[in-house]
Amino acid sequence: MSEPLLVAEELEKEYRTGPEVVRVLRGASLVVRPAEIVALVGASGVGKSTLLHLLGALDRPTAGRVLFRGEDLFARGEAGLVHYRRQNVGFVFQFYNLLGELSALENAMIPALLLRKPPAQARELAAAALAEVGLADRLRHYPGELSGGEQQRVAIARALTNGPRLVLADEPTGNLDPKTSEIIYDLFLRLQVERGIAFLVATHNPDLAQKAERGYRLVEGRAREIDAGTG
Ligand SMILES: Nc1ncnc2c1ncn2[C@@H]1O[C@H](COP(=O)(O)OP(=O)(O)OP(=O)(O)O)[C@@H](O)[C@H]1O
Ligand SMILES: [Mg+2]
Repeated sequence: MSEPLLVAEELEKEYRTGPEVVRVLRGASLVVRPAEIVALVGASGVGKSTLLHLLGALDRPTAGRVLFRGEDLFARGEAGLVHYRRQNVGFVFQFYNLLGELSALENAMIPALLLRKPPAQARELAAAALAEVGLADRLRHYPGELSGGEQQRVAIARALTNGPRLVLADEPTGNLDPKTSEIIYDLFLRLQVERGIAFLVATHNPDLAQKAERGYRLVEGRAREIDAGTG
C-alpha cells in the first residue's frame, strides 16, 4: 500500500459567533492515498465543507494536524501554506467561484499567474487544462455564456492548472443534472488514471459516493470509514 498523500489527524474545529460556540469537527481523521478517489458524505451541516477547507489550508483547525506527504501543514509559516494552496492542491468549490468578468481561459490562468509564471506559460497551462476537461472550444467564453456543467468544468480546469497531486472537490455535482454529474465523475476517473491525481469529494450524490473507491461518513464531528458501495 502506498504512502498516504494526505492525513487528517484528530481535527477539531469550533466556530465562535458572538457568545455561541459551535463545535463542528471533534476529532475527524482520514487518509487519502495517491491517485485514489475518496468520497466524503454526511448530513447537511455536519461539517464536510469545514473539513475540506481545513484540508485545503483555506482555514485553520482549532486542534489536530494535517499532514501532506508526511509534513505537518500548519507547522509551516503562512508562505508555506500559500505554496501548498497554489502548488499542491486544487480546490473545486460548490458554486464554481468563477470570476464573471474573465473568460474561461483567464479564469483558468489565475493559479499559474499567482505562482508568478509568465503570462504566455500561464495561458498555455490553462488552455491545456481546459482541453483536458473537454472545453478546448470554449476558451473565450465568459461564465455567463457557459452551461452549469461547463462552468463546473472550468472550475475543475482551474484546479488542475498547476498540476496538483490532490483535488478537493466540494459538492462538484451539487447543481448538475444526473447526466452532467456522470460526465464530471468520468472526468475525475480519467484524471485519476491518466494523471495520477487523488480526489477527495464531498457529495450528496449517492451514485458518485458509490463509485468512489473508498469513503468516509462524517457523523458527530468524526469521520467513519464506510464500506465501498454502501454510500
Ligand atoms: N464561518 C462560520 N461561522 C460560524 N459557523 C459556521 C461557519 N461555517 C460553517 N459554520 C457552521 O458549521 C456547521 C458545518 O457547516 P459546513 O458548511 O461545514 O457543513 P456541510 O456538511 O458542508 O453542509 P452541506 O452539506 O449543507 O454543505 C454548520 O452548522 C454551519 O452553520
Ligand atoms: Mg458543504
